[in-house]
Amino acid sequence: MSTFVSSFVPSLVLALAAFAVPVMSASEAPFSLPKLTYELNALEPVVDAQTLAMHHGQLHKTYIDALNNAIMNDPKMEGLTLSALFRSASKLPPVVRDNAGGHYNHSFFWTIMAPKGTGGEPSPALAARIVTDFGSLEQMEEKFEKAGVARVGSGWVWVVWTGSKLAITSTRNQDNPLMDDMEIQGAPILANDVWEHAYSGTFQNRRGEYLKSWWSVVNWKEANSRFAEAALTK
Ligand SMILES: [Fe+2]
Repeated sequence: MSTFVSSFVPSLVLALAAFAVPVMSASEAPFSLPKLTYELNALEPVVDAQTLAMHHGQLHKTYIDALNNAIMNDPKMEGLTLSALFRSASKLPPVVRDNAGGHYNHSFFWTIMAPKGTGGEPSPALAARIVTDFGSLEQMEEKFEKAGVARVGSGWVWVVWTGSKLAITSTRNQDNPLMDDMEIQGAPILANDVWEHAYSGTFQNRRGEYLKSWWSVVNWKEANSRFAEAALTK
């Protein structure tokens, strides 16, 4: 184990004790672009095919290429998982932090969307937790949309499992709630990209309309799995 890794393993263990972190498969460097499980036009009209092609095939790939380049040039980071990188995010060079975040966030994002009518609904366990923590699904959605609109500039809005409850948070640029210096940390259950590149093709600058429309392409089946893995498994 490198000295870089051993320096943050104790904090990693403590953090993992609070909530189980779903870790992407094949997360060892070099990182690669995950395939979409739906066609480029499958999320229309919420996400148009041209936007999805650009967002996935070009922007996401740019983060991966930059991350691989940065890591391969630094032997201390060789072989680290994304999860391990985020647990020491506050100590990382900005180029690694930003591009690791860009890769994780977008990889998560593709899985948490599905063509209209195929995403299912919150499981009984997740639905019950939503009622406990937000009052209703509608109130959770409203709070999520408000947090997304309130994010100044570019970033993400999340539903996370903190270890004891569901919470909504937003992060700047490519930060995410797995990073060690986030005010609200937790395992991601839902995420929406509120960078303008995610929605300007259909909605121009109307981020609020995008956030409201986005619920029709949410993959609740994936959210249910994430919640079960983070909150229900020991
Ligand atoms: Fe994006």
